[in-house]
Formats: sequence, C-alpha cells, structure tokens
Amino acid sequence: MLTCPICQAPLQTLDNGVTCPANHRFDRARQGYLNLLPVQHKNSRDPGDNAAMVEARRRFLDGGHYAPLAQRLAKLAAGYKPERWLDIGCGEGYYTTQIADALPQADGYALDISREAVKRACKRSPQLTWLVASMARVPLADASCQLLASVFSPLDWQEAKRLLAPGGGLLRMGPTREHLMELRQKLYDEVRDYDDQKHLELIPDGMRLAHSETLTFNLHLNSSEARADLLAMTPHGWRASAERRAAVIAEPCDVTVAIRYDWIERL
Ligand SMILES: C[S@@+](CC[C@H](N)C(=O)[O-])C[C@H]1O[C@@H](n2cnc3c(N)ncnc32)[C@H](O)[C@@H]1O
Repeated sequence: MLTCPICQAPLQTLDNGVTCPANHRFDRARQGYLNLLPVQHKNSRDPGDNAAMVEARRRFLDGGHYAPLAQRLAKLAAGYKPERWLDIGCGEGYYTTQIADALPQADGYALDISREAVKRACKRSPQLTWLVASMARVPLADASCQLLASVFSPLDWQEAKRLLAPGGGLLRMGPTREHLMELRQKLYDEVRDYDDQKHLELIPDGMRLAHSETLTFNLHLNSSEARADLLAMTPHGWRASAERRAAVIAEPCDVTVAIRYDWIERL
C-alpha cells in the first residue's frame, strides 16, 4: 500500500527499508519506523513538534487525564470496522495505540512529520506501520483507507479525500469553544473565541458530515507537572506570557475538557 513520496510508484519492502522501481530508497530506522519524508519536502530541519512538546504530551496523556477522550475515539473507530486505517498527525501515539487495540484485525498506519514524535510512538504498537511523512503528500495509494483519524491535528483535506475509499470516512477529534476555558481565562486578558465549526467549511465536494457528537467533562489538575505539561503541549506554552503561565502552574485548578468528534464520509 505504501507509495514512493518522490514518484508515487508502489514501494517494495527490503530487509532494512523500502524501495520503488525508480530506485528511490528509504531506510527503516532502528526503532522500526520508515522515514518517507525526503529532504526536499521538509520546510525546516526538524519539522513538526519538537522533543520538549512531544515529551510533555506523552507525560500528560500517560497520566490518564484524557483517557475518556481516547476511549470514545477508539469505540467510534471500531464501530466503522475499517480494513485499513491511518492516523494523520499521530504525535507520540497515545490515541493511535488505543485505536489499534480496538481494531486488532485491521491494517493500521500512522504518520507524523515530527521524527521525535514517531520515534517514541512506534514503541507503543510495533505491529502498526509508522511513518515520518507529511500529511500534504501521504505515501499511501489512492482510496486505500476506510478510516482516517485526525486528532487535534491540522489536515490536508484533498489528501484525505484522495486516500479514502468510497463509504470510508474521516474521524476528526478537535476542541470545542469551551475546551480549557478556565485555563484560557487565566492566561489571557481577552479569551479568543474559537470557531469550532470552521473545519466543516473545508469539507471538499465528494465528502459529507455524517455524524457529530461532543464529550465534556471536568478535570481537576492537582499536580504542577500536569499543569505545566498541559501548557507545554499546546500553543499556550509559547503564546501566553511567562508570568501568566507561572501563575497557572502554581495553583491546582479545575478545567473543562470539551471535545467534538465528527465523522466525515467519502461519498
Ligand atoms: C497537536 S499535535 C497532535 C498529536 C496527536 N494526534 C495527539 O493528539 O496526541 C499535532 C501533530 O501534527 C503534526 N504535524 C504538523 N504538521 C504536520 C504535517 N504537515 N504533516 C504531518 N504531521 C504534522 C505535529 O508534528 C504534531 O505531532
């Protein structure tokens, strides 16, 4: 199913990597992932989330604070019964692994442009095919997936459409406007209103919104490490002033977690 990111021809497996008929070769890293991001497709030396952000997200998610979000995501994914699925922008793999556990028979793929993220992610579920790759040029064949997951990530909608088989769909999980509201109120004088419907305007012809739901719960953040990690894994880690961030980290707080799930079907 893998295709060459340079010439789009099918890739064949070699002992220590993959190659295409035009002899473009890509090595398998020691940790097990494939690097299918050619240097000419990188817009910086180390694109995507850096090691500090990835580590913060990993500690926070492994702390179980967002476990209900992952459980619902995995349950929804299992209900769609895909034969092949891909997590686009998988990060360090917390959600990916729970989808994989809910779909033990399916052929699972995951990609992220951040090598630091994929390096860690691939250890969670070695049975999946883990890729360092760009979501703008996904190295998988047309109509090869019945389910795409996009969790808190940006998305290239045309690529998503290309990858989906008819009847398949994109399972998108993202914040609603209430998400982390108490935290945002502490961090900014004026809380920016977040349009949590905006992504629906980007749905291309040939795809349609078939299901939406939200999940909301209260989270009590007792530990300063969890509060610091939550800031570090989001844009608030650099957007808010150092003083406001320190104030948030200093005191236990309650925050609203409010997430929406959308299933956007390929017609
Ligand atoms: C907010 S994180 C979400 C990670 C993971 N889905 C999660 O929720 O834990 C967004 C991810 O998108 C990745 N990303 C950003 N631009 C990308 C691109 N062009 N192609 C692939 N991944 C990209 C980042 O490296 C980062 O890991």
